[in-house]
Amino acid sequence: MSLSGQARLAGVLGWPVSHSLSPALHGFWIQALGLDAAYVPLPVAPAHFEAAVRALGHLGFRGANVTLPHKERAFALCDEVDAAAQATGAVNTLVFEGERIRGRNTDVAGYLGSLDAAGVGTLEGAIVLVLGAGGAARGIVHGLLSRGVDRVLVANRTLSRADALAALLGPRVRPVSWENLADALASCDLLVNTTSLGMVGQAPLMVAIDDLKPTAVVSDIVYRPLVTPLLAAAQGRGHKTVDGLGMLLHQARPGFAAWFGVTPDVTPELRAHLVALLEARD
Ligand code: ATR
Repeated sequence: MSLSGQARLAGVLGWPVSHSLSPALHGFWIQALGLDAAYVPLPVAPAHFEAAVRALGHLGFRGANVTLPHKERAFALCDEVDAAAQATGAVNTLVFEGERIRGRNTDVAGYLGSLDAAGVGTLEGAIVLVLGAGGAARGIVHGLLSRGVDRVLVANRTLSRADALAALLGPRVRPVSWENLADALASCDLLVNTTSLGMVGQAPLMVAIDDLKPTAVVSDIVYRPLVTPLLAAAQGRGHKTVDGLGMLLHQARPGFAAWFGVTPDVTPELRAHLVALLEARD
């Protein structure tokens, strides 16, 4: 597709950024919608992050996504941030408005959007077990609390990080030790893996799910492989599962809408396009 002199520009800042699926994802929407717009990978080393962001504004970019390892730095340089960014201390979406930089954390809504799209239904009163207490967990726990869950049990290899998450996000968040998961597994309505375990190249996630309630939903934010060993085991037991690709697809919608003026849809065609790209890599 050719660009005019008025093409709208955005991209993704990361280091490295070559693995990012965001250019393919936004490029699919740009093409499908026939927009005069471009979304490009922007490899930027940590030392140059702030200068690069400021330069993007001067270059006429509408904004950018921010991925590892820049999300906390992005938070620090925004002039204003939304509630999800405030709660997580991390920004994954920048929107330039004149000299001002607005930051958002759309990972939170992306995760909730993926549950909604999978037909998980209301989370009101639910008991959730979150595995992991890193940056991803912080956003997901914040989002789940906003949906009225009864409590979130957080299990982490390093218990002090689960304690810190509970201290930060309030009394509905309860730390659970990694060695003592049995009761939490048996009581939860939703199990979420936010650790990197089970990802291609990482150790497997060793959690026995035999005592899960049959109605429990199992979700994993890892999307390489798409069906992680945890999700495969859950499917084998007949649980509803939600894979990590949904979060990636749904977190991208608000940024696209802000930069390019159209709210795009997450369609089966888009999903198939990205699944094919992932399969070609593995
Ligand atoms: P992110 O911001 O993506 O969540 P992170 O802050 O590095 O990344 O958090 C990674 C999570 O995966 C943490 O909960 C981490 O546990 P620790 O806090 O104990 O480090 C978890 N994790 C990573 N490797 C693990 C392993 N081998 N066993 C158990 N948990 C692991």
